[in-house]
Amino acid sequence: MNFENILVKKNDSLAQITINRPKKLNALNKATINELNIAFKSLEDDNDVRVIILTGSEKKAFVAGADISEFANFSVEQGIELSRLGHEILFDYVENLSTPVIAAVNGFALGGGLELAMSCHFRIASDNAKMGLPEVSLGVIPGYGGTQRLPQLVGKGKAMEMIMTAGMISAEEAKELGLVNYVTTQEELLPLAEKIANKIMRNSSVAISAAIRAINASFEDGTNGFDIEIDEFGECFGTEDFKEGTTAFLNKRKPKF
Ligand code: COA
Repeated sequence: MNFENILVKKNDSLAQITINRPKKLNALNKATINELNIAFKSLEDDNDVRVIILTGSEKKAFVAGADISEFANFSVEQGIELSRLGHEILFDYVENLSTPVIAAVNGFALGGGLELAMSCHFRIASDNAKMGLPEVSLGVIPGYGGTQRLPQLVGKGKAMEMIMTAGMISAEEAKELGLVNYVTTQEELLPLAEKIANKIMRNSSVAISAAIRAINASFEDGTNGFDIEIDEFGECFGTEDFKEGTTAFLNKRKPKF
């Protein structure tokens, strides 16, 4: 895959996407969003790929937000379309992938950058990372899911404060709030992501996909997550992975998924 704004690499079952516009602090312009959509789709369709790590190039930024220069003159209609399309092709899309996506937040994750990290299934961060939703300082609100996913992750009160103040929090604060799972040095960030990915890859990817659907269902309007869990749980009993996992356990050997 050849892209202008992102780098994609694959090492056996582990894929890594690096957003690569360092001169613009990896800000998400339209072209980058489109390329990310294509890359995620192709990795999701690749049966060999079992975990995807998403990170930003160089040491300063994961993503410093949506590209402000692209929407500064937008009308109301264009604003709605920008947000709607972003949700559809990137933010909701990533959240609902069957392949686990880990955000390795290596620096500034602001606005659309934090929203993208929050769309990933979970996040880890380097100790220099800074996170926030500064949109109200630009006279707009978060439009790529930030008003919905930040309260889910850190609670309503803290999300209100972060969005209203437009402030940034440190990686350590983000960990205390449950926004990121681990904080490490910049050098150790990708090795840690890979270590976690390797643990994930030992398990059934079919069952992991079902777990992602069941967990996400609890945040969907009008959906009873418990009902989805019951259905997904039952479906697992019809899979090869379930036969292999239970047989391996009973025969005291490691499963081969
Ligand atoms: N959109 C477009 N360009 C951006 C950007 C964004 N969200 N964030 C950074 N850039 C660009 C800058 O315009 C600058 O480009 P230039 O060299 O051509 O002028 C380059 O990236 C470097 O950024 P700069 O602001 O010079 O770095 P800094 O170290 O002084 O500040 C930040 C870093 C992250 C604090 C600052 O870039 C910033 O506040 N960015 C915007 C954050 C934001 O509001 N995001 C939400 C958008 S909805």
